[in-house]
Amino acid sequence: MKQSSLHVAIIMDGNGRWATARGWPRVAGHRAGADAVRRVVEAAPGLAIRTLTLYAFSSDNWQRPPAEVATLMRLFREYLSSETARCVENGVRIRVIGRRDRLEPRLRKAIAAAEAATAGCARLDVQVAVDYSARDAILRAAQSLGAGACRQAFSSLLGIPDVDLLIRTGGEQRLSDFLLWECAYAEIYFTPRMWPDFDKNDLAAAVAEFHSRDRRFGRIKEAAVG
Ligand code: IPE
Ligand code: IPE
Ligand code: MG
Repeated sequence: MKQSSLHVAIIMDGNGRWATARGWPRVAGHRAGADAVRRVVEAAPGLAIRTLTLYAFSSDNWQRPPAEVATLMRLFREYLSSETARCVENGVRIRVIGRRDRLEPRLRKAIAAAEAATAGCARLDVQVAVDYSARDAILRAAQSLGAGACRQAFSSLLGIPDVDLLIRTGGEQRLSDFLLWECAYAEIYFTPRMWPDFDKNDLAAAVAEFHSRDRRFGRIKEAAVG
């Protein structure tokens, strides 16, 4: 294995289209999407992934119909309560990133409980982005640092390591306001697979593709010097 501390970020897209294609309501896709999250969390350590950041709900997703938003919020809450014990068993630390002030108090409580229960876990960090906007996060960091801003302080205030591999399912090829700062040198992998169908083989294929890429970070290959 070339690297033992990969940070993989995933834009989990396609739930609605997956359900609609089956004649089901969109929320059925979100429910199936929660199962895909379980599969990916389970498979990640075996692929040398140390940090997994999952885009679950963007700040722009508040503009969806209230019933869909309410179901998503309920699913997050249920997922956190039902998965925490398993996460502790498997050494999975849960952290939620994004704004908390617009979340319902009972979801905030479930988040705090899951974070506290898994705080000592060190095998895999799972960061779930809820009410997340990269632009907002960057703006808030800039406002709080003011004239003292520098790259290092900025990165540490944002609190998320640089992304190695960014995966987006569902066929769209855009970032949708996700980890704009942290993806500066991320390898990007787009797949038409809808998120509810994404499984450990898909994750392994994405990671294998990552290892075949040549990351240069602005330099040139050593063999080409001269
Ligand atoms: C991703 O699936 C989940 C969220 C954005 C909450 P979508 O709900 O965006 O599914 P599509 O893109 O409409 O198929
Ligand atoms: C991005 O998906 C957000 C999440 C996957 C949570 P969207 O479906 O909201 O993105 P757009 O609207 O296609 O850009
Ligand atoms: Mg979508």
